Amino acid sequence: MAKRRIGILTSGGDCPGLNAAIRGVAKALYERMGDDVEILGIADGYTGLIEGEYRKMDRSDFSGILTRGGTILGTSRQPYKQIQVVGDDNVDKIANMKENYKKMKLDCLLTLGGNGTHKTAALLSDNGLNVIGLPKTIDNDLYGTDVTFGFHTAVDIGTEVIDRLHTTAASHSRAMVVEIMGNKAGWLTLYAGVAGGADVILLPELPFTYEKVAQAVMRRVQRGHVFSIIAVAEGAMTKEEAKLKRKERVALRGGPINVTPLVAKYIQENTGVETRTMVPGHYLRGGSPSAYDRVLSTQFGAYAAKLIDKETYGVTVASVNGGICANKLQDVAGKSRYVPTNHQLVDVARSLGIAFCD
Ligand code: F6P
Repeated sequence: MAKRRIGILTSGGDCPGLNAAIRGVAKALYERMGDDVEILGIADGYTGLIEGEYRKMDRSDFSGILTRGGTILGTSRQPYKQIQVVGDDNVDKIANMKENYKKMKLDCLLTLGGNGTHKTAALLSDNGLNVIGLPKTIDNDLYGTDVTFGFHTAVDIGTEVIDRLHTTAASHSRAMVVEIMGNKAGWLTLYAGVAGGADVILLPELPFTYEKVAQAVMRRVQRGHVFSIIAVAEGAMTKEEAKLKRKERVALRGGPINVTPLVAKYIQENTGVETRTMVPGHYLRGGSPSAYDRVLSTQFGAYAAKLIDKETYGVTVASVNGGICANKLQDVAGKSRYVPTNHQLVDVARSLGIAFCD
């Protein structure tokens, strides 16, 4: 009987949990199919599939990677809009991927990634390839799943960053403005802000005013709190900016910058409180996955192996109401999930006096 040949790629921003998910799939496939399965690791995301860069993996490749951050396969960003069209490099990426899929004699392609990755996965599925997705991103902004692996580890890291900022802010009686990743969604800033005890949380979904930020800092000063912690989502914007197109926002800000330094400047100039900014950036995506993410990634990986065994394709794994299930790629691909303005955690934060300045 011919071996089942499964191709795996990781695409988009890396995150803790990718290797745990890869390990979960592989170990579950070997348990289910023994030597009747062959796993091929595709290098650097869709780039590897376009260029035919892959290698046969064996069981030893999946040992000792549960705790390793990043991705053993490498990753890249292949923007969806560039995948669809034949660019100036005159490379028909879809045709190349289909051809390499056939050359590799794959029975199934497993794609671990975020929004863009799922859009391309759906496109490949529409083109007749057997594709299964696994939802990965620290942003937690994938439609159709309550949580993505990588998110909780980033919340832990973001919380630790904010915890450490408290002591230096208090020692210097400063306002510390810390920018948290999350792309266009505020999930990571909301959770790390609440967990870290931020006094102000600025989210893309709740456009703010500078005046209200200054008022929130002054309210703390008037109550005798010598410092403030302001957690700003990298995609946060003012009410005025929310009405503008991206290009207009860039012009208004004087360049393609996030709002963080502008918030700090406004606080310093309008409250007299000495202010500093801090941007942990990719630090939030680094290192070993948390125990929560190791479990979630393993659950997702094992479920993907089950889908492969049952030859259920054109779907992506999800966690819904605590259960692991699958959504059709067509139903979720390219759709984002943003923080609802009345989200329970937003209401709880407001009830504690945390200011969203919206
Ligand atoms: O999607 C994950 C993410 O870390 C976002 O939060 C962030 O905006 C983006 O990736 C950064 O992209 P890059 O790693 O390409 O700089």
